[in-house]
Amino acid sequence: MEKNKQRIWMGIAVLMSLTLLLTVHTGFAVAAGKEAKIGLAFSMTGAAAGYGSTQKNGVQLAVDEINAAAGADGLKLIPVFDDDASTPQQGINVFNKFINADKVSLIIGPTLSNTAQVTDRIAQQAGVPVLGISNTAKGITEIGDFIFRDSLTENVVIPNTIRVAKEKLKVNKVALLYGNDDAFTKAGYEAFKKALQDAGITILNEQTFAKGDRDFSPQLTQIKSQNPDAIVVSALVEEASGIVSQARKLDIPKSVPIIGGNGFNSPNLMKNSGDAAEGVIVGAAWNASSANALNRKFLDAYNSRYGSLPDQFAAQAYAGVYIAYQAIGKAASPDNHKAIRDALVQIKGMNTVLGSFSFTDGRDADYVPVVQVVKDGKFAIFGE
Ligand code: ALA
Repeated sequence: MEKNKQRIWMGIAVLMSLTLLLTVHTGFAVAAGKEAKIGLAFSMTGAAAGYGSTQKNGVQLAVDEINAAAGADGLKLIPVFDDDASTPQQGINVFNKFINADKVSLIIGPTLSNTAQVTDRIAQQAGVPVLGISNTAKGITEIGDFIFRDSLTENVVIPNTIRVAKEKLKVNKVALLYGNDDAFTKAGYEAFKKALQDAGITILNEQTFAKGDRDFSPQLTQIKSQNPDAIVVSALVEEASGIVSQARKLDIPKSVPIIGGNGFNSPNLMKNSGDAAEGVIVGAAWNASSANALNRKFLDAYNSRYGSLPDQFAAQAYAGVYIAYQAIGKAASPDNHKAIRDALVQIKGMNTVLGSFSFTDGRDADYVPVVQVVKDGKFAIFGE
């Protein structure tokens, strides 16, 4: 009888030591040996397709690394990708499928703020956590306490961009050009306007365009006639590329730099605009040149797998999967959405490819932005 008791106590002790070992090594308390489905809503078609493909690459790389490191007993991720088609309507379909049919632990995406401002309400209502990885318009996380993002907002990145541009380029008067039919491009415009006013820079001219526009010569001709020191643009990458190319075709010299926001952070800018993109200044949320060891490893792994360097959208996607994994792993079960949400809130000072990452009290991203310049067809650091 006594022996049996001893055996039972020894069994309990061994089990407790194993749990402790697992907790110390992985930071996960009890989720070992489980699988978690994550829904990934990215723009693979439509106006934001320029971002979706690198987001998908970044996610796939992180998921494969995580699953390989998890071994037989660790928590594995099952990615469920779907195309939000850059539209709120398709975003709604995808979110409903993720929540009701796939029963995912967490949703990453959608690509555009314009879509997120609609889809995230569905997830909030259903109590399913969402991690935005590229939504930069204001107000997205205000939708509710299940909505997070690892993408720095325009309100954080743009004042920094204008400060650096003013210091380095002696910009005193500018023209402002923006898309007036999109949540992100409008938010970028408002952030630029405020930052310019706060910096004492005169706005000579404001011009607008819409998604899908191809001819920007009427706006650029007006702008040219006012001789600005710089042209400030809030646009998604397709329109940004057209604006950059046509500005130079209209002989607005490169001594008049173009300054862009988050939408410019794609190699498609250089692919579409070629030499005209040289010298473009871009506010960014990821420092590709960072010496952070994790970042170097990410650059090498991405480059050897895809044969190209990652962009900011890929980096935020890659970091987002690690952030989500940490939170899902800390939750008692991948089905416990509330526990995953509570674990996301706790993420502070996490080492990521974006730098030391925390969520603010409002569930927005908190880390250091940078300013880039296009040099020899690539993004280089302009200032911090
Ligand atoms: N940063 C862009 C958005 O928020 C892609 O829509």
